[in-house]
Amino acid sequence: MSRVKDNAHKELLDMTALAPAILAAMPGPLVVIDADNDILHANAAAENFFQASAKALARMGLAAIAPPDSPLYRALEVARTSSASVNEYDLEVGTPRTGGARLVDVRVAALPDVPGALVVQFSPRSLAEKIDRQLSHASAARTVAGLAAMLAHEIKNPLSGIRGAAQLIAPQLNEGDEELARLIMDEADRIRALVEEMEALGEERPRPYAPLNIHTVLDHVKKLAEAGFAAGIPIREAYDPSLPEVLGDRDRLVQCFMNLMKNAAEAIIESDRPGVMEISTAYRPGVRVAQPGGELLALPLEVCVRNTGPAVPDDLLPLIFEPFVSGKPSGRGLGLALVAKVVRDHGGVVECDREGEWTVFRVRLPVHGG
Ligand SMILES: Nc1ncnc2c1ncn2[C@@H]1O[C@H](COP(=O)(O)OP(=O)(O)OP(=O)(O)O)[C@@H](O)[C@H]1O
Ligand SMILES: [Mg+2]
Repeated sequence: MSRVKDNAHKELLDMTALAPAILAAMPGPLVVIDADNDILHANAAAENFFQASAKALARMGLAAIAPPDSPLYRALEVARTSSASVNEYDLEVGTPRTGGARLVDVRVAALPDVPGALVVQFSPRSLAEKIDRQLSHASAARTVAGLAAMLAHEIKNPLSGIRGAAQLIAPQLNEGDEELARLIMDEADRIRALVEEMEALGEERPRPYAPLNIHTVLDHVKKLAEAGFAAGIPIREAYDPSLPEVLGDRDRLVQCFMNLMKNAAEAIIESDRPGVMEISTAYRPGVRVAQPGGELLALPLEVCVRNTGPAVPDDLLPLIFEPFVSGKPSGRGLGLALVAKVVRDHGGVVECDREGEWTVFRVRLPVHGG
């Protein structure tokens, strides 16, 4: 009995002693601040990133990391008042005294035992990612929206005329010419499908949203995948069954997750090696992102589509959510542009990450009534 107690005590002591070493070993910059925003600790990665020793950072204070009008301070306040962890994306930190401005994602978490104290973690981002995010979320779909809607309308009518005419004359033609008529019809069908996809990308009309369980959407897409484009590829499920409902458009969400799973399957097939796909859901109450207006939006619902296989090429990564960007010989580059649009229309965000051997597409959505 006393042995157990001694061991527990020992573990606690060791962990306390190890804490500075653990902080020092963490690869990402991290600072601990108190209720007055004074810097209590900066790990080695933070010293490196801000080009100043922990002591110098403590002396200069948080103002040397973020100017007073930085959205960082709002995130700190929200983390303090809500005692939840807060994510703020695409923030500039660093002043001329600390290596200059750089783009980061910030995660702020309250230290439960020390009132007002916070752990602030920085994930440096590249400029390319900044451009990617801005394009994918703000303008990727919108830039082609007007053009797509207009073109779709203008193309579809004459196209059905061309197709109809080819269909009419086909029976009167000899064998070789009939084949040509069939070619016209097939190509017309292909253009129509392309135009309809562009039309979906440009659609600005609000559609009826209803509360739905995202798992019914995922189950449906998984069945379609297994019966068709992902036949033979194992698809694992890791669902959080208690996930709350999302307010959404079922058809558009089906399209969105279908496009992600199609890409996952295509990446596995292209790699010519056995691969696995995984669909997971999770509830992450602490996840919040800053809206362009400055408001913080809770996006606790997480759906990930992952696959083993080759990573998205580095030069393509900042652009994959753009329309007509494709790394495939016959790809149209519309799949992810539509994903970005559907997710944005649902008030969410989508990101692509590489985690070990996995390519991960992570969709974060708000909950219904949340
Ligand atoms: N899971 C993935 N693994 C590796 N690369 C990916 C993955 N998903 C997307 N990509 C890359 O991103 C590019 C853009 O994807 P997107 O779905 O927008 O277009 P596409 O698949 O090429 O064509 P479309 O979906 O219109 O038929 C792909 O061509 C591919 O290079
Ligand atoms: Mg695709």
